[in-house]
Amino acid sequence: MNSIHSQSKEIAEVFIKSSYSVAFTGAGISAESGIPPFRGEGGIWSRYNPEVLELDFFFRQPFKSWAVIKEIFYDFFQDVKPNAGHNVLAKWEMEGLLHALITQNIDNLHQKAGNHEVYEFHGTTSRLICTYCNNIFSSESVLLEQLPPRCADCNGLLKPDFIFFGEGIPEKAYQQSIDAARKCKVFLIIGTSGEVSPANQIPALAKESGAVIIEINKEPSMYTNRISDYFLQGSAGEILSLIDHHIQSKKENHS
Ligand code: APR
Repeated sequence: MNSIHSQSKEIAEVFIKSSYSVAFTGAGISAESGIPPFRGEGGIWSRYNPEVLELDFFFRQPFKSWAVIKEIFYDFFQDVKPNAGHNVLAKWEMEGLLHALITQNIDNLHQKAGNHEVYEFHGTTSRLICTYCNNIFSSESVLLEQLPPRCADCNGLLKPDFIFFGEGIPEKAYQQSIDAARKCKVFLIIGTSGEVSPANQIPALAKESGAVIIEINKEPSMYTNRISDYFLQGSAGEILSLIDHHIQSKKENHS
């Protein structure tokens, strides 16, 4: 594949012409905000036991599970900010270049950057749900000093509204993601290893529907030699900014 520069120039052209473009993001886009990815060197699962996100462990040991969940997903996530990669995707939505964003991330950074059409395939840390009466609370409104947190209405055990291992994908986000993958002309895969199903079926669906697949990742992934038409190796923030630079200069030349 030819150089990043010439590929990103070509991609800018493809992107501007696309009538419906979708981005599909994973932990890699949030790495530059300081959130470690799940796998690979320094990944979350190399430092914490993933059992804390197994449903039966959570119900058997709610205190132990919540103590780790709070440390990983709340104490630390609270003050992380969107980075250049998030900001470019928000700009493209505002400019009508990006029509939907499917994310596996639960850090709410795409919404903080300004994207509205966001399908949270694995849920989000920004809401807690009561495991008894299903009431929803914004995580900011619940004090996590007292663990495990309890529902203000029925005193039931609260759970973060992201999926634990063994849990199903949120129905609405799943359907919206399938619909978007089916109708898109350009599908951007950004910062995801492709190791986790059923999320990794969504890019395959976009490919089958005839979309141009553009992948941005620091390393080759499960998609690279299978479905990606373009593979731009490097950091998401830098590469998305480079593509945006080419888009803006093409728009200036056409205006
Ligand atoms: N820019 C681009 N890509 C990056 C960057 C970066 N700065 N940093 C890391 N990456 C890439 C890595 O090369 C890797 O391919 O991001 C990917 C992160 O992969 P994972 O850690 O497996 O994250 P993800 O694919 O999102 O995992 C999917 O697994 O544990 C579950 O629910 C969790 O949503 C998560 C799911």
